[in-house]
Amino acid sequence: MEWNESYNIGIDVIDNQHRQILDYINRLEQIRICGQRDKIKEVLDDLIDYTQSHFSFEENLLEQVRYQYLPSHRGIHELFVKRLNDYRHKFDQGESVENDLYRLLSKWLINHIQHDDQDYVDAVRDNMLHYLRAQEQKKGKSWFSRFFN
Ligand SMILES: [Fe+2]
Repeated sequence: MEWNESYNIGIDVIDNQHRQILDYINRLEQIRICGQRDKIKEVLDDLIDYTQSHFSFEENLLEQVRYQYLPSHRGIHELFVKRLNDYRHKFDQGESVENDLYRLLSKWLINHIQHDDQDYVDAVRDNMLHYLRAQEQKKGKSWFSRFFN
C-alpha cells in the first residue's frame, strides 16, 4: 500500500501518525508470508499498540478543541480497538489472523481517514487559532501548542 496525497487531512501531526500506521500495515503485509510466528507477533503488537496510542492522541486533540462529535468518534475508535485486540487474542491462541487483519486494516484505516477524520478538520482548524491565542495570552506552553507552533 502506498501513501496517496488524498489521504492527507492537512494536520501534519496526524498525517504523520497515519503514515506510520500505514508503514506498520506494510510491514505486516511483508512479514505475514514468512510463517515465523514470533516475527509476525512483533509486528502485530507494534501495529496494535501504535494504533491505540494514535487514537488516544487524536482523542486528546479533539478534546482540546471541544469537538462536538468526539463521543461518537471515540466510540468508533473503541470498537476498532476491541476488534484489534480480538485478533491479537486469536493470534495468541495459535490462529492465523494476519491475512484477515491485513485486509481489515488496509480498508478500515483509509476509510476512517477519508471520512471520520476528515470530518473534524474544520473544527480543529477553527478552534486551534482561538486556543493558541488564548495560550499566548497566558504565556504558557500547552500540550496542544507543541504541535501547532
Ligand atoms: Fe480517528
